[in-house]
Amino acid sequence: MALFKSSTQDIPEASPVPRHIAVIMDGNGRWAKKRFMPRVMGHKRGVETVRDMVKQCIELGVEYLTLFAFSSENWRRPPDEVKFLMGLFMEALKREVVKLHENQIRLVMIGDRSRFDPLLLQEIHAAEKLTEHNRRLTLTIAANYGGRWDIMQAARRLVHAHPEKAETFSEEDLSAYLSMHYAPEPDLFIRTGGEQRISNFLLWQLAYAELYFTDTLWPDFDREAFMLAVNSYRKRERRFGRTSEQLTGNA
Ligand code: IPE
Ligand code: IPE
Ligand code: MG
Repeated sequence: MALFKSSTQDIPEASPVPRHIAVIMDGNGRWAKKRFMPRVMGHKRGVETVRDMVKQCIELGVEYLTLFAFSSENWRRPPDEVKFLMGLFMEALKREVVKLHENQIRLVMIGDRSRFDPLLLQEIHAAEKLTEHNRRLTLTIAANYGGRWDIMQAARRLVHAHPEKAETFSEEDLSAYLSMHYAPEPDLFIRTGGEQRISNFLLWQLAYAELYFTDTLWPDFDREAFMLAVNSYRKRERRFGRTSEQLTGNA
């Protein structure tokens, strides 16, 4: 039995407060450039926005917050920027993990770990272990994550574990091997920074997510900007393939 209802196999409950929010935090470089600062200052400032958003999610009763921190394509950036981002990740982990734990937040990292520095890996592992039983909010950081990588690794692991299912496996079988098997599918997807694309984020899991795009740059994405996104979500009618009349009982 699957842990959560699939948006294509069942009809999940559409709660007024999104249970799961997934975010592409974009626009850090442009935020810094506008201020005549190096791009990396935007990343540094972006960490503050993360902190505020985590607090706000707890206040609202959001159960899962998933943040895209580094894509599998971001290795294509200048080596100095990549190095800075890895350093920032390490620093933020070290500094915040105790606070996260005190606030009953579970931290999970998804993505291909094979390219990370062993010291960073150790830090990630320790943080996940420390917070694994916390349930107030599950904060997932997608780092060296790619949606296609996720589907590929799931298919490979499933077929390896169950060769007899190679030609017959179901959606449910596969989703158990996806990186986010421990969470319901995102209800709300937010992308800041003006771009309207998915950039290889959670391809499978976003099948029926409500999409919200804003021009606000990530470091400027404050409480008010976040509430605009949540209020936009509240007004959506989540039909999952049905008609509006079916939903209102007038069918
Ligand atoms: C998003 O901000 C953060 C990461 C991809 C790590 P960007 O660095 O992409 O900022 P822009 O898009 O160049 O402004
Ligand atoms: C997407 O942002 C990845 C993260 C926010 C980590 P990018 O700024 O790298 O996206 P593209 O490549 O411009 O679409
Ligand atoms: Mg960008």
